[in-house]
Amino acid sequence: MAVVGGGAVGLAVAWRCAARGLRVTVHDPAPGSGASHVAAGMLSPVAEAYFGERELTGLLVASAARWPAFAAELTAASGVDLGYRTEGTLVVGLTGDDLAEAQRLWSYQRDLGLPISPLRPSELRDREPALATRVRGGAVAPGDHQVDPRRLVTALRTAAERAGATLVTGAVRALSDLDARVTVVAAGCGAAALTGLPVRPVKGQILRLRAPDGGPPGFRHVVRGYADGEPVYLVPREDGEVVVGATVEERADTDVTAGAVLRLLRAAVDLVPELAEYELVEATAGLRPGTPDNAPIIGPLPGRPGVLVATGHHRHGIVLTPLTADLVTELVVAEPTAPATADPLLAPCTPERFAGQRRPG
Ligand code: GLY
Repeated sequence: MAVVGGGAVGLAVAWRCAARGLRVTVHDPAPGSGASHVAAGMLSPVAEAYFGERELTGLLVASAARWPAFAAELTAASGVDLGYRTEGTLVVGLTGDDLAEAQRLWSYQRDLGLPISPLRPSELRDREPALATRVRGGAVAPGDHQVDPRRLVTALRTAAERAGATLVTGAVRALSDLDARVTVVAAGCGAAALTGLPVRPVKGQILRLRAPDGGPPGFRHVVRGYADGEPVYLVPREDGEVVVGATVEERADTDVTAGAVLRLLRAAVDLVPELAEYELVEATAGLRPGTPDNAPIIGPLPGRPGVLVATGHHRHGIVLTPLTADLVTELVVAEPTAPATADPLLAPCTPERFAGQRRPG
């Protein structure tokens, strides 16, 4: 089988399928250099449960539940430390208005039965003394974890190759160029040109800071929140890195702009003042593969026997990696089993839902 795309999703599919005994070739001009390289790595089924996305939230919850076993298995298979951390996520508001905005969302999340609990300001500061004294309040989502996506890609590549998969560093211009019984298109935004599906780039600018003197950051939770109306997230890693993200822009370029850096840094420092003393080591932009309903596209491509799609993960590629890999692997192994026997989690992901919006691929 062929996998087009060597990001987290494509490599996870390759690893799982190779481990099931399939002969797998992954095609990518620069494996791991796309959205996975830029991603922050938040595993946030709760804090990223947004209004009007109940089915997507179900997928995030299902995939996040697979992460602990996935991480343990991948670490054992690759020997790579993934930077998987389970301290949980704090959702905070800087001003009264910011807190009201955050509360509106976490009330919705609680109504869905998701684990998020408001904290008194003193409880918030007990958990994270590095938070600014101006922060008005917040909540904790203890099950929202994090992983380092760059380590994840290294681990997946190692595990896939150890399981027998081959990597070919070349671009695939058309699916007809591939001579494989089954092809999985996991090419992020590149899937649009290959399949005609409505996958569009959603630009995200993101920063990487480093704590002084080679030490760890002065906070351990992922911090998400609003600072004077600006949404921001801060992801601390044990090696001293802090990821500050991210813009969400309907654009296809990967330029880093001064305005975006200014807004992200101002919001970050407003929430955690000590970040002003950190080194700014990287400012990058990546392209999330967005879909019209923000849910991923996973399943057989209509009218193209032997072609499966795994793309459109938008803001959730890393958290959805284990579930996507499992769903695709079952489809590949079970093929040509009728969709009636397919996993019900595939229902909101089906490529058929965009049948009317497909361009010739
Ligand atoms: N999931 C975080 C982002 O897309 O920025």
